[in-house]
Amino acid sequence: MKEKFVVTPWEVRGAIDYGQLVKDFGVGTISEEQRKHIANAAGFEHFMLRRGIFFAQRDLGMWLKAASEGKPVALYTGRGPSGHTHLGHLMPWVFTKYLQDAFDCPLYFQMTDDEKFLFKEDLTQKQVAEYTQENVLDIIAVGFKQGKTRIFSDTQYAKTIYPLALEVAKRVTYSTAKATFGFNDSSNIGEIFFTSMQSVPCMLPTIDAREKGLIGPKEFVPVLIPHAIDQDPHFRVTRDVIDKIGYPKPASIQSKFLPSLKGGDKMSASDPDSSIYTTDSQEAAEKKINRAFTGGRATVEEQRRLGGNAEVDSICNYLTYFFEEDDKKLETRIDAYGKGEILDGENKKYLAEKVTAFLKEHQRKREAARKVVDKFVVSD
Ligand code: TYM
Repeated sequence: MKEKFVVTPWEVRGAIDYGQLVKDFGVGTISEEQRKHIANAAGFEHFMLRRGIFFAQRDLGMWLKAASEGKPVALYTGRGPSGHTHLGHLMPWVFTKYLQDAFDCPLYFQMTDDEKFLFKEDLTQKQVAEYTQENVLDIIAVGFKQGKTRIFSDTQYAKTIYPLALEVAKRVTYSTAKATFGFNDSSNIGEIFFTSMQSVPCMLPTIDAREKGLIGPKEFVPVLIPHAIDQDPHFRVTRDVIDKIGYPKPASIQSKFLPSLKGGDKMSASDPDSSIYTTDSQEAAEKKINRAFTGGRATVEEQRRLGGNAEVDSICNYLTYFFEEDDKKLETRIDAYGKGEILDGENKKYLAEKVTAFLKEHQRKREAARKVVDKFVVSD
């Protein structure tokens, strides 16, 4: 029997059936019309959209409609700074940048430093603060618009966030939190409160726009949240209560997970070899790729004769999810791999070249970001 998979904001395990998740979570899929709408606004269709890597949504149509009517709209995404940034984290951010460019709208970027302190037994507040600073460099390096992007951490922006989090917390029962997140008697009480903090940025764009007089006191700024599907439970809770506080439900666009380099559906934070970090040296990245799980056969002869299994091959997966934007090239390579015309060594070399070029450029931008941190980060 297949092991039952688990997807929560804090644990992802087993072979994920995304079709089943759509049903379990009650999200919608992305329609052809919605894809076209986004592609038209952007001027091109992002490969993550085209390949169904972003595959699910809530109320996306409403957000797109508001945007097409010229109403102010906003984006919101985030990061829990529990370590360095890996390529999986970058996926929703790269896509968020695409959306910000397409719709030229403000982005609210939340760093949940409180969450990571509460949920990670071995992390101190000081360590989380250090990771926050490090992660901010990666976020800026992605290329979000200066002046339209506001990055804040929950502890450093608490004066703004906390009163709104209280409004949420007062309306969410322990029973809902338990049913949604699986808390039990040994969960600490901070964990139970936390989801209310993640709701708050859904309200901030409206509050800001009203303060600036960009909209009337009864008007709203619709918010779209790009994220991987593990974060959906938070926004289910948000959506249940936010209209009672006087704000509209946020929309979302949700991605699959960048698979592990060790095989399987998601990288594991406890195994640094299962993913590539933006801070990895070229040598470290190459080593991880060389040791990656492949769909290869026991011998070269067998692989030539039977072909490799591209579906489970982490190299082909990395190319599909992140590194090969050209559909034709990707298709040709996967086809050749499946026919045994390309062996693992060659495939790994091809990916390693792409990854090291990407890291070199990202790390350059990451260093440059140090000079403009205060143009992006706000605190109160
Ligand atoms: P965090 O730090 O776990 O993850 C940051 C973002 O990366 C996504 N993600 C992945 N995407 C693709 N492949 C993977 N292997 C992978 N692993 C993680 C996450 O879904 C997320 O979008 N609580 C949040 C921080 C947060 C947030 C938000 C995230 C606060 N507000 C609004 C998204 C949207 C967290 O700990 O994310």
